[in-house]
Amino acid sequence: MEIIDLRSDTVTRPTPEMRAAMAAAPVGDDVYGEDPTVNRLQALAASRMGKEAGIFVPSGTMGNLASLLAHCGRGDEVIMGTRSHTFLHEQGGLAALGGIMSYTIPNQPDGTLRLEEIESAIRGDDQHEPRTRVVSLENTQNACDGSPLPLDYISAVCELAHTRGLTVHIDGARIFNAAVALEVDVKALVKEVDSVTFCLSKGLSAPVGSMICGDAPFIEEVRRARKVLGGGMRQVGVIAAAGMVALETMTERLGEDHARARQLAEGFAALPGFAVRPVHTNIFYFALTEDCPFDGAALADYLDKRGILMPNRGPRSFRVVTHCWITDQGVERVLGAVRDAVHDLSDGIGS
Ligand SMILES: Cc1ncc(COP(=O)(O)O)c(C=O)c1O
Repeated sequence: MEIIDLRSDTVTRPTPEMRAAMAAAPVGDDVYGEDPTVNRLQALAASRMGKEAGIFVPSGTMGNLASLLAHCGRGDEVIMGTRSHTFLHEQGGLAALGGIMSYTIPNQPDGTLRLEEIESAIRGDDQHEPRTRVVSLENTQNACDGSPLPLDYISAVCELAHTRGLTVHIDGARIFNAAVALEVDVKALVKEVDSVTFCLSKGLSAPVGSMICGDAPFIEEVRRARKVLGGGMRQVGVIAAAGMVALETMTERLGEDHARARQLAEGFAALPGFAVRPVHTNIFYFALTEDCPFDGAALADYLDKRGILMPNRGPRSFRVVTHCWITDQGVERVLGAVRDAVHDLSDGIGS
């Protein structure tokens, strides 16, 4: 039975074209700057983002951490959302490894941080207080229905931050999903920001790796931060080669993942007991209502036995993520299995 994995887009595997490129990649020692494939990938990433320079890092987590280490000194502060991945899921690495404080502001349901709240979070010039250095945004905002942050909002944050002498970082793990959903060139989304991290894994399907892009002096600072974090890699062109294919072939097709997420969400919303949140990109959330006669664990277990991985995240809540391994047939199979689950579990037929 073919497994349909809706847990995350991190489960995507390299495409045959990526594997071929990996096998053929010329390599060198990247810590010496001598890996030709990494150098090509970094140049390509910088040009796709419209930035001066780029650097390859093993993960999105390291991308955010190395960027913020490069922007901040010990005791400095970064403003970010309460629902941001950096605050929720990166082990407080900023504090643990960089002595950097996080000042959190509630994310609105659309993923934004209110401008007034950013403004009042910025510290004054007072020796009692830490120095605010960075505003960190996330696009798409994973935990806020995978919402894309629109261009005019990003511009407004940049204007505020830059006027106050701060830099703006974007955790763009899924920035290409945002660009496709908003129908803009990704360059426009990052034009005014000082740094962006984006993932080649996840929706773009490369096996490993993220990029950081910004101006050349900033990227040189990131290079130091990457090294102290143990992220200096050697003949890593074998992996960068897959990243090149990801950037060249996988960004434009992301709309298919968004369409399949919408199909799944619409199908679920038509069922009794399913409260489905809005779909903006490839991530959506839903919950089983209180009067639904079965709980999240029962539904997850029912689907699991039928080769569909969609675990519940709370007693009645779920997140669904589509990606390039979810096909139209897969969508039909999931919708059929969920309809069967509603019938069987409501009738007490069980799993
Ligand atoms: C928004 C966001 N940022 C950063 C990351 C971290 O990426 P990685 O798993 O490559 O460390 C993730 C991972 O899912 C993410 O969703």
